[in-house]
Amino acid sequence: MGCVHSRSALVPDPDLDAALSKALTDPPRRVRRLDLPDGRRFWLKRVERLSGRLRLQKGDPAKAFAAEREGLRALAAAGLPVAGVAQEGLDWLLMPDAGPTLPDVAADPGRDEAEKLRAFTEAGRSLGRLHWAGMAHGRPAVRDVCWDGSAARFIDLERFRRAQRAGVWQAADVVMFAQTAFTQWPEDGRWLEAALGAYAISAPEGATAAVRRLVRWLTPVRWLAAGLSRIRPGSRELRAVGLTLGRLRRL
Ligand SMILES: Nc1ncnc2c1ncn2[C@@H]1O[C@H](COP(=O)(O)OP(=O)(O)O)[C@@H](O)[C@H]1O
Ligand SMILES: [Mg+2]
Repeated sequence: MGCVHSRSALVPDPDLDAALSKALTDPPRRVRRLDLPDGRRFWLKRVERLSGRLRLQKGDPAKAFAAEREGLRALAAAGLPVAGVAQEGLDWLLMPDAGPTLPDVAADPGRDEAEKLRAFTEAGRSLGRLHWAGMAHGRPAVRDVCWDGSAARFIDLERFRRAQRAGVWQAADVVMFAQTAFTQWPEDGRWLEAALGAYAISAPEGATAAVRRLVRWLTPVRWLAAGLSRIRPGSRELRAVGLTLGRLRRL
């Protein structure tokens, strides 16, 4: 799918307008894919409406939505790889398609290993550049990075924040990325290694030391996860905690 970015708001785009108004009148869904007749693809993200109890569990959706809007804009303004905003309203954002997510790329038999390694290398470099710019993604899970064939772009910026270079929020980004990679691919670290290698050279000075420091603080979490793993041996997430903290101690 081509990565077609927004046309100027002044240029009429009736196909997009029709798909968008229909999607906006349909019952709200948080994230919806819009496929236009001419092959262009967009993603519509809307504010989630949650009951009181879910709100307590998941946090305030309006706040998350505002953070996402700010993150999409801030990254785009800094020239960083991000999905970007094609159009927006008070409680919705329309993004151009940024390509398949890293797990989709990794699972695609039509792509060779060299391209997969390139996608993960670019993901690591994108995260390093984001950190250079004094920001933190907030939750860069492997499924929140898209690959369009040349750039690894971030989506899902609901926990975006401005953050000190080589500070704890940036270190937490790296832990989150590695944790989700080990959850998906516990036996094979090649893709994660490609990302970590690129991160280490493109991140701000002191960033890898900050990750090692955070990992030391998280040692009790590692013990806890190891204990819980014995009770729930099937949990990939719990197993990934040990793999993540073990690997990042040596970053
Ligand atoms: N701009 C985009 N380009 C490509 N895929 C997207 C885009 N926005 C969303 N998606 C797809 O929709 C999924 C959910 O969107 P996301 O913003 O991550 O919301 P959630 O908070 O539900 O994870 C993503 O994992 C991805 O597959
Ligand atoms: Mg997501």
